[in-house]
Amino acid sequence: MSPLHLKNTPEGQIISLFPSGTSLNEKNELLLGGCSASELVSTFGTPTFIIDESALRERARRYQDGLQSRWPNSDVIWASKSLPLTSVFRVIGEEGLGIDVAGGGELVMALAAEVNPSKIVMHGNAKTDDEIEMAVKAGVGTIVIDNFDDIDRLERIVTGEQAVLVRIIPGILPDTHLANATGQDDSKFGLSISSAKDAIERLRVSKKLRLDGLHLHLGSQIMSTEPFIKSLEAIASLGEFAVYDLGGGLGVRYTYKDNPPSIEEYLDALIDTARKYLPPTAKILIEPGRSMVADTAVTLYQVVTIKRSLRTFVAIDGGMADNLEVSLYGQRFEATVANRVGGGDLYSLVGRHCESGDILIDGVKLQDPKVGDIIAVPVTGAYCLTMANNYNGARRPAVVFCRDGVARPVVRRETYEDLLARDIN
Ligand SMILES: Cc1ncc(COP(=O)(O)O)c(C=O)c1O
Repeated sequence: MSPLHLKNTPEGQIISLFPSGTSLNEKNELLLGGCSASELVSTFGTPTFIIDESALRERARRYQDGLQSRWPNSDVIWASKSLPLTSVFRVIGEEGLGIDVAGGGELVMALAAEVNPSKIVMHGNAKTDDEIEMAVKAGVGTIVIDNFDDIDRLERIVTGEQAVLVRIIPGILPDTHLANATGQDDSKFGLSISSAKDAIERLRVSKKLRLDGLHLHLGSQIMSTEPFIKSLEAIASLGEFAVYDLGGGLGVRYTYKDNPPSIEEYLDALIDTARKYLPPTAKILIEPGRSMVADTAVTLYQVVTIKRSLRTFVAIDGGMADNLEVSLYGQRFEATVANRVGGGDLYSLVGRHCESGDILIDGVKLQDPKVGDIIAVPVTGAYCLTMANNYNGARRPAVVFCRDGVARPVVRRETYEDLLARDIN
């Protein structure tokens, strides 16, 4: 059944949070990228991350086409920290986007996925000598200077010419969780406008470092266009440059109530403002992470036990080891039983980890949940796998791409042997 027929029903409400290729089969069960949730679970187990490959490719093209139709001299640079999997680097690279890496690990994955190094932008507020050497040796297109030590290191390490941007603190605190804000005056990322002026002067006379322009990034899960508009006003005073990297940060819809700007509304606001403040010949880069991947993935769990006390706990076989967004940022998610989709009574969906804070969703509607049921949590594509960990000896989940009814595993589940693999004796 296509989601269109379900509009304004409880099923339609929850499915609207799932990847664009999601539907229901005749048994009223979720089909993710055309693959049934129960078949996925019987093949790959739980917890497993399911990525709708077509939705991911569509999203990459929507961003790239949306930006380039508004400002032709531009590129979308995907912030790989949001879902650092070699297979995702490969898809995004194939779609022609650039990749933002923060450090050596993400660089290694991008190169393993055969991303063109000239389309890689390297970030980091504490890049080591080793990481800068790796980037220079690999031919990374652009390195973002975050501090004066970056300049010293690059001057020492670069032998030919290296394109750089200077990261500016625009002095804007967006309305998001404080841990996700990076553009405010006391941010640890980037240089204040006055320090940036010194860095720019130094770079203008460098024989090795080619200053292409400026970079800024306000933070993540930003739910209005206003801070993006203000950030452009803030950097306009620094003069004219060939390249402006305006960062990422667009918020996404995790819950029924969330109402972030659409990608098109965000691009309209950004580019209308760029027309006012930036030179018309400049190249514009943007670095979406969360809004590129969040709603292209779903986590599948199984119910292990249901306990009725002062509240009713539905406990699943995952939790804060595969989704730290809840504990770290208080992010609210929604969920459904995979074969009784939408509606139901309110439950506390809890994880299996040894903390009372390991409540995945408090007060979520589930239809008659039972032990063994599959629970599907949508919008887990961003920063969940990124921060997956081994708390309580959890084995990090498997990842499966689904497309046109074909399931393709791209990362196997960790094994108990993996948990012992780094022990030396
Ligand atoms: C420099 C930089 N660019 C882009 C992003 C992506 O942000 P988001 O995932 O919110 O789009 C981040 C994430 O924090 C970042 O640090």
